[in-house]
Amino acid sequence: MPSKPDEAICRDIVRDLAGRTVVLVGIMGAGKSAIGRRLADQLGLAFVDADTEIEAAANMTIPEMFEIHGEEYFRDGERRVISRLLSGGPQVLSTGGGAFMNEETRNHIKNGAVSIWLYADIDILMERVRRKANRPLLKSPDPEAVMRDLLAERNPVYRQADIAVESRDGPHETVVHDVLTSLHTHLRLEATKSAHEKTEPEQPFSNGKA
Ligand code: S3P
Repeated sequence: MPSKPDEAICRDIVRDLAGRTVVLVGIMGAGKSAIGRRLADQLGLAFVDADTEIEAAANMTIPEMFEIHGEEYFRDGERRVISRLLSGGPQVLSTGGGAFMNEETRNHIKNGAVSIWLYADIDILMERVRRKANRPLLKSPDPEAVMRDLLAERNPVYRQADIAVESRDGPHETVVHDVLTSLHTHLRLEATKSAHEKTEPEQPFSNGKA
């Protein structure tokens, strides 16, 4: 059982974020929205769901967008909406499974936010995505084959996120706890490294002729 999230850890995280957004990335069914909402709650930060914001901006659902205008239209909206949302930190932002595949979005996240890749076993992912029929990419006679192809293509890219956390089966609180501890460690290391860089004296040349 996870221990009650440490308030001191949450305070450290919010301080070390220094206004940055925590971005959740990963494949459909990884639990980005469910975990993101609870993570934001623990940290006392706002939670924003990119897909919900894209739907609001386009005034239609994602399946409608794919159906009427095609995937490219959705991807373009996704890129623009996430770019706008990234400036709203500190907050927790969950993104759709394809968002981090866009190079511009990925660089934007790498340069100004902290990213967390949520990953899970294919069986767990399939069990979760079967619960909702709102994913146009999985409207296929063999959704599992589609998922396997997407994972093969996307996992090397998701891996570029700052932190990776397994989205295990079981209570959401367990995963939120794992995210909090990983995020805390990452941000503390980052702070220590940057303090060290600021105080490190300039090294003389190794041949002693400095
Ligand atoms: C997509 C994932 C979906 C949604 C859209 C496309 C993808 O979001 O953005 O259907 O390309 O993987 P979730 O990952 O929240 O299901």
